Amino acid sequence: MMYITNAEPGDVPSLIENMGQTLGKLYDPGMLLNLINLWPQGCLVVRFANNINGFIIGVKDKPNNAKVLYLGVDNKIRNQGFGTRLMQKFITQCIIEGIPMVRLEVTTDNIPAQRFYRKMGFNIEKRLTAFYEDGKDGFTLVRYF
Ligand SMILES: CC(C)(COP(=O)(O)OP(=O)(O)OC[C@H]1O[C@@H](n2cnc3c(N)ncnc32)[C@H](O)[C@@H]1OP(=O)(O)O)[C@@H](O)C(=O)NCCC(=O)NCCS
Repeated sequence: MMYITNAEPGDVPSLIENMGQTLGKLYDPGMLLNLINLWPQGCLVVRFANNINGFIIGVKDKPNNAKVLYLGVDNKIRNQGFGTRLMQKFITQCIIEGIPMVRLEVTTDNIPAQRFYRKMGFNIEKRLTAFYEDGKDGFTLVRYF
């Protein structure tokens, strides 16, 4: 059975593999380990046996401010509600900690992700010109709860 739990330091290798598949980029293990240690309750994974099939990695960048850095679900299990559950669990954790809002960035051309975020109650806060390494623009999205 697949279930959602906090990420643990031992998940880093499997997490990197899954992030590579879903986001198309190889992330630094030390950076991920740091994020998991900084806010374990803000780093959640979809777990199946020994594999990671989805993730949401967040940080608290100010005391009352949470940001989602990475969100992805393995393409084999998309459209089954895991992305929604990851985000809902993340927001529940924010509410528990008294954090009233979450921000994230998305490339302007990632229409499926934008549709997903809109359904999850996010709104565009601003456009970010040439925000990404490859020169793409982004949007900052925000949801208050
Ligand atoms: C964005 C992403 C995380 C969504 O994950 P997901 O697990 O597919 O999300 P959900 O299943 O909760 O919702 C996706 C869609 O399935 C629908 N859905 C949810 N539960 C469902 C179910 N049980 N049965 C059928 N459809 C369902 C949702 O309504 C939603 O519809 P939409 O496409 O119109 O928005 C995923 O598409 C992904 O990893 N994309 C690539 C990486 C990426 O772009 N990340 C964001 C970068 S900022």
